[in-house]
Amino acid sequence: MRVAIGADHVGFELKESIKKYFDSIGQSYHDFGAYELDPQDDYPDYGFKVAEAVARGEFDRGILICGTGIGMSVVANKVKGVITALCTTPFMARISRTHNNANILALGGRTTQADQALEIVRLWTETEFEGGRHHRRCSKILDYENQKCKEKESGGT
Ligand code: RB5
Repeated sequence: MRVAIGADHVGFELKESIKKYFDSIGQSYHDFGAYELDPQDDYPDYGFKVAEAVARGEFDRGILICGTGIGMSVVANKVKGVITALCTTPFMARISRTHNNANILALGGRTTQADQALEIVRLWTETEFEGGRHHRRCSKILDYENQKCKEKESGGT
């Protein structure tokens, strides 16, 4: 699985812990930054990079971390083809894969303890989409997005 990861200054420390976890299990990843702790950096700069790389198909999954995960989830969900789930519990992580087929996980560095976040990451990366009725539901979201984009391209209705 190809994984992209990114964080702002508040998510920086958790990003480094997730990288260590991936190193320990032999999971490769690409780090889109931040590469150093800069209190002036802005989460959209990293969020769009990761989300667009996932949307282009260069990565199967993305993980984004800011203070609460809210900013990153808003940013990434603006990108066509991306389904971002902000998860604060292992249960949410599992369901965001089995039911929602989320291809980006958003985490809050200020709101989720590191050990809980690593368990969320473990479950989220190990869990597959269930398909079936969930495929029908997810398709409705993607169909809506595709339809709206087409309307925009042709001047709107
Ligand atoms: C940065 O102070 C903070 O606003 C950001 O990390 C994030 O929590 C936004 O949602």
